[in-house]
Amino acid sequence: MTEAALAEVRIETLSARRPGDELAQAARAGLRATPKELPPKLLYDARGSELFDRITELPDYYPTRCERAILNRHAPAIVAATGAEELLELGSGVASKTRALLYAMAGAGTLRRYLPLDVDRSVVERTADELTALYPGLVVHGLVGDFGRDLDGLPAPGGPRLVAFLGGTLGNLYPRERAALLGRLRALLEPGDRLLLGADLVNDEERLLAAYDDPEGVTRDFTANLLRVLNRELRADFDPAAFEPFARWNGEARRMELGLRARSAQRVRLAGLEGCEVSFTAGEELRTEISTKFTRSGLKRELAAAGLVIERFLRDEEGLFSVTLAAPAAPVDAVPGDSALGGSPDSERAMR
Ligand SMILES: C[S@@+](CC[C@H](N)C(=O)[O-])C[C@H]1O[C@@H](n2cnc3c(N)ncnc32)[C@H](O)[C@@H]1O
Repeated sequence: MTEAALAEVRIETLSARRPGDELAQAARAGLRATPKELPPKLLYDARGSELFDRITELPDYYPTRCERAILNRHAPAIVAATGAEELLELGSGVASKTRALLYAMAGAGTLRRYLPLDVDRSVVERTADELTALYPGLVVHGLVGDFGRDLDGLPAPGGPRLVAFLGGTLGNLYPRERAALLGRLRALLEPGDRLLLGADLVNDEERLLAAYDDPEGVTRDFTANLLRVLNRELRADFDPAAFEPFARWNGEARRMELGLRARSAQRVRLAGLEGCEVSFTAGEELRTEISTKFTRSGLKRELAAAGLVIERFLRDEEGLFSVTLAAPAAPVDAVPGDSALGGSPDSERAMR
């Protein structure tokens, strides 16, 4: 980090658990399950984050392009409407699109603190370094942790807070996980705080497949990186060449499903997991990620179930991706429309 940045940066590890223990537990449970499945957070070591960043720049990977367009266009209005003084971002990654929000907050004179939270320490450190260089007065409080389990340990808010959850990461969770996380986020929000949620929409299958199976093979490398993580961290002997990455659309569940398929029957040993052995039949799958796609009404329903109301529902010009600004629902005995933005289920505005 630069010397100028040091004074403004703090990096805190939220999780009391050692990352190795976390990985071992996830691998033990996921490799014994039927079908085999590992949580997507394991995809993001430093190399995984770098590969994901490359995915976001691929011509067919429309979610990042569309979400960036929405944020670039509407960030000033979002900031003006919320009066946010700090930005907490879950699964912040390299935070490239977030800059539009920080820029708007700086322009409005409200920017005080940015709190990027990610499971990958390398991206938190990189983001903190880059942003303090860009905004010399900015306090960056980086948080290394798991948004699924570490939200209780967050620093107390220093002012009205905007909680951003971008990149369609909500869609990586199964419905019950989404409900639990949205409920926890709702509990985190003070009355003046807002949630800003980036969610990919149900689009045609051809477009989705092109976005998740690029001819350059970057998405395949990203998926296969999981095996390298397991080999390195758990001293496993996965042969990446023995697995074929796949990406398919599950229309019934409205989600992309990504993973690795064993090219032949094989046994894998994980020396760091008490020498446990895992067998794969030929063609057997190891799912690494889902990416659920949403509709506006579906999002509204899931947010409402968590006690959140939509204040603004924003889409890009092509209508492919959405960014939703949501507020804590007013208590049942409150006067309708008394929130700072006049938000209520009936005042939901669609802006394009
Ligand atoms: C799909 S990427 C999105 C990155 C960035 N927000 C964007 O919009 O481009 C998901 C990000 O969330 C992080 N992540 C995934 N699961 C996580 C978890 N359970 N807790 C914290 N971070 C997580 C990953 O490391 C990665 O940076």
